[in-house]
Amino acid sequence: MEKIYESIEKVLISKEEIEARITELGKQLTEDFAGEELVVVGVLKGSFIFMSDLVRNIDLPLDLDFMVCSSYKGKTESSGNVKIIKDINVDVENKVVLIVEDIIDTGLTMSHLKELFRVRKCKDFKICSLLDKKERRKTEIHADYVGFDVPNEFVVGYGLDYDGKYRNLPDIGVLKPEVYQE
Ligand code: IMP
Ligand code: MG
Repeated sequence: MEKIYESIEKVLISKEEIEARITELGKQLTEDFAGEELVVVGVLKGSFIFMSDLVRNIDLPLDLDFMVCSSYKGKTESSGNVKIIKDINVDVENKVVLIVEDIIDTGLTMSHLKELFRVRKCKDFKICSLLDKKERRKTEIHADYVGFDVPNEFVVGYGLDYDGKYRNLPDIGVLKPEVYQE
């Protein structure tokens, strides 16, 4: 992966740190959701790597599915106008829904999904986000489970993209300024 690292200014969270934190989160979720009918819902594309690592650390029978939401107007700014591009196919009524997200930024995507699942009458709705950029919140939404808090910087890697790229970077990092200017 030498080539891709040429674009990275600094690594914020290493793959080893991510792995260790996901092991902890998995133990916590295994305890908290024991005995529940659990549906884990990943928000694509950003959550695809986190989701696959996380569910392998949840020692419970569970169902899973994915959604695609879109809210971006630019490359790094959310528009707040959240659209569901692809919905889940599983029935969530009376089940516990755990949304898996890569990062909560303004919180607009999550508050939209929270309302959507409230209408669908799930038994409970919980949010697990790998990253949380609390400083940027525009709405009152909080994640029940957070991997790491991150500063107000645009981050990439481990599923997170800039303009569609860098999702395959194994760590989470910040790009060199010239990459954003291109
Ligand atoms: P929100 O609706 O503003 O909370 O936006 C959340 C979504 O914005 C996440 O699912 C990401 O796809 C994207 N996002 C927010 N901040 C970053 C970042 O620093 N890097 C990459 N994607 C981000
Ligand atoms: Mg996303």
